[in-house]
Amino acid sequence: MLQARKAGSQATTVSIEIQNVEKRYPATGNGPGTHALRNVSLSVSKGEVVVIIGPSGSGKSTLLRTINALETVDGGSIMVDGVSVTDKATNLPAFRTRVGMVFQHFNLFLHMTAFRNVVLPPIAVKGVSKADAEAAANKYLARVGMLDRAHAYPAQLSGGQQQRIAIARALAMEPQVMLFDEATSALDPEAVGGVLDLMRELAGEGMTMVVVTHEMSFAREVADRVVFMDAGAIVETSTPEEIFQNAKSERTQKFLSLVGSA
Ligand SMILES: Nc1ncnc2c1ncn2[C@@H]1O[C@H](COP(=O)(O)OP(=O)(O)O)[C@@H](O)[C@H]1O
Ligand SMILES: [Mg+2]
Repeated sequence: MLQARKAGSQATTVSIEIQNVEKRYPATGNGPGTHALRNVSLSVSKGEVVVIIGPSGSGKSTLLRTINALETVDGGSIMVDGVSVTDKATNLPAFRTRVGMVFQHFNLFLHMTAFRNVVLPPIAVKGVSKADAEAAANKYLARVGMLDRAHAYPAQLSGGQQQRIAIARALAMEPQVMLFDEATSALDPEAVGGVLDLMRELAGEGMTMVVVTHEMSFAREVADRVVFMDAGAIVETSTPEEIFQNAKSERTQKFLSLVGSA
């Protein structure tokens, strides 16, 4: 199915265009500043799955957060489906409805049921009617296999179940792009596979995805392209075949040998 998608989709339309982005976190009382993104450029086509790998602190989360305008940039530009994220005139709440984000720690509202977690954002942010939001919640909770637990609170659910709810919540906004930041890193080993399978299915359905993960088998199987970041810069962008068999950069080779996928 994935191969069919890859062969069949002549994905030529650009979805995300990141050009020469710079990001610095200012110095604070207890630490120096960080140059978190250095001249980062990356273009993601519609329907493409880009997996970002790299050591801790290399800027992966910062890059995802700038795509969703959760962080400002200090230079360069980012466009998502033709809308400039970095232009101060852009209406960010409206923009963010186009980009779904899934975090390592789920970030669900703990005082609300799973169902309410999924129903609320489209009503609050997009002005969708209650009936339409409830219909969408049922659809996407079913999509992630959680309809039977819709009325549980997050504390009553396992990590894997909470992450499925978080994915349903993002999908209910009907985003054009999904960003995943180590979505399986906080899960028990037995829950990881199910969430990765769900992500694989979304990719197979043609969702445009940027995925930060340490799951190299996912990168190998699902990525159209793999980006290796180190020290705030993109070191290498290749197909999974190229990067895992024949990485160009020594830094990439060293990282891959450390994470056990070379
Ligand atoms: N909110 C922040 N304030 C200051 N420094 C930060 C902040 N977030 C991240 N950093 C720093 O920016 C660098 C990149 O971090 P991050 O994007 O989280 O990397 P990764 O996701 O690859 O681990 C690190 O040196 C980190 O300490
Ligand atoms: Mg991170």
